[in-house]
Amino acid sequence: MCGIVGYIGWQKAQDVVMNGLEKLEYRGYDSSGIATIFNGQLKLSKYKGRLSVLSKHLEEDPHQGHVGIGHTRWATHGQPSDVNSHPHINESNSVAVIHNGIIENYRELKKELIDEGYIFKSQTDTEVVVHMIDKYLKTSVDILSAVNMAVSRLRGAYALGIISKADPDKIIAVRKESPLIVGIGDGENFFASDIPAILEYTREIYYVDNDETAVISKDDIIFYDKDKNIIKKDKFTITWDMDAATKGGYPHFMLKEINEQPKAVADTILRRIDENNNLILDDIRIDDTQIQNINDIYIVACGTAYNAGLIGKYVIENIANIRVRVDIASEFRYNKQFINDKTLVILVSQSGETADTLAAQKLAKAKGCRILSITNVVGSSVARNSDDVFYTLAGPEIAVASTKAYTTMLAAFYMIGIELAKLKREISINEYHKIVELLKKLPQKVEETLKTEEKCIEIAEKIKNAKSAFYIGRGLDDSVGKEGALKLKEISYIYTESFAAGELKHGTIALIEENTPVIAVLTQDKLLEKTISNIQEVKARGAYTIIITDKDSNDIANYADDIVVVPKVYDLFSSILAVIPAQFIAYHTSIKKGNDVDKPRNLAKSVTVE
Ligand code: G6P
Repeated sequence: MCGIVGYIGWQKAQDVVMNGLEKLEYRGYDSSGIATIFNGQLKLSKYKGRLSVLSKHLEEDPHQGHVGIGHTRWATHGQPSDVNSHPHINESNSVAVIHNGIIENYRELKKELIDEGYIFKSQTDTEVVVHMIDKYLKTSVDILSAVNMAVSRLRGAYALGIISKADPDKIIAVRKESPLIVGIGDGENFFASDIPAILEYTREIYYVDNDETAVISKDDIIFYDKDKNIIKKDKFTITWDMDAATKGGYPHFMLKEINEQPKAVADTILRRIDENNNLILDDIRIDDTQIQNINDIYIVACGTAYNAGLIGKYVIENIANIRVRVDIASEFRYNKQFINDKTLVILVSQSGETADTLAAQKLAKAKGCRILSITNVVGSSVARNSDDVFYTLAGPEIAVASTKAYTTMLAAFYMIGIELAKLKREISINEYHKIVELLKKLPQKVEETLKTEEKCIEIAEKIKNAKSAFYIGRGLDDSVGKEGALKLKEISYIYTESFAAGELKHGTIALIEENTPVIAVLTQDKLLEKTISNIQEVKARGAYTIIITDKDSNDIANYADDIVVVPKVYDLFSSILAVIPAQFIAYHTSIKKGNDVDKPRNLAKSVTVE
């Protein structure tokens, strides 16, 4: 997904902007560009391809200016190309614009501008913004007024960065729906779509909210609300450091993040348990009366967060006895919703900035639902618009394929499920304390599960040439399989699907050939025998079968070609361990195939368009 960075100050803008864009590479992109102003001239460089392509051109023809904006583009309107890359400039080469998001009414604005004589060079929606600013500059006193006029015409989502020859000592940044932060320096200031871009320079930041505009000069930052009144905003201090956002000795972010899971899970769980085994969920303020008032729960999310929601449903239904429905965020708005002020909506989002999830949030709010969000990013859009927030404390997750964010989301659901069960008196206080005691042991069990890596490397070697693969399981294990399949397909590019084990025979079993890998997740005691029968069905048809289980391997040795054993924990918590071998298998298969593990093709870390 697109990344944006802006700089004004004493350093060369090119250096800071390029450095920032590198830190945002993990978001996924297909082209990049930079614009600066120096000696009254606006200079532009933008190219299709990786940042290294842009860097090479900058080596030959560097930018000298101390004010600049840069962009990594992930194509939405118009294919990846030099001309579609950002920044976009007006015809007289006096204004440059970078944009994250989508301008929904760009067609009608483009027509209006073309009728007035504007010539469009690109197929992007963004180019309307720069021409619109140009149009209003003709009648405005300054660039800020022109930007305000132009922005008032836009519909959609945008984080914009604008520089202009008319006012070369300022950058203007505007936000609606797309993430934007402003970094505070000494004799220099910054803006970016994401914290790692500027963390090397400052820890002091402002989160820009919807419909706010920042006018950034080297010694000053002024914020305006949507009515153009100057507003005072609170600063935030970022507590994690660059080390947490760099590879720290690992060959890839994904491997580092898999290995960080014991700490991430410990951080998420342990600080929320007091010495008497009570959960301290300070940010969740649902009280006794409110909980009795809740009829049902909707969990809404995308991708890996959705898969975590499937586990959340199982956990909450089984322990708290509340009916739960899980919806994909992009479908939620278009489905028939049975929601009202007696519905608790749980939004799950690592980034807290996923456009589909934000749109679902808006709708749920309008219908009067109470909103609890589970997110990893403090101050993110999802968090700021929720009644209650559970922050997973996974630290920054950089690899596109999510790992530690997923396991900490599961930890969050375990804690929310247990607390709801207590509030609804579905479990006695005694049981509650016992389950919390079991929860406390999880980080250690996650640590032990990392030992499965070696076995997973062997398995990766055996499946690396497969054309397709399958995960099967029942109940919770089926949901773990969904996440396992997503991991394997997104980074190994092996077509992988996950099926409820009993459903396979109703069609999909036709796809099983000699050596097709079938990975069965087997942790649920009550479903053990049934799933084993389903494994036999595929084995009999030539499948290469692998079991991920917490059972004694001697008991099931005959049922599969390979077995990965994870530690035994309370049945309801088994998924947080069973998923780890699935992560390792995906990672090592991808490596063996020579793929770009951290930046898989066509994917983005944070999808800020609908
Ligand atoms: C993208 C990422 C996925 C992620 C999903 C939801 O598709 O590639 O890994 O699960 O977005 O992201 P969120 O930040 O809302 O959890």
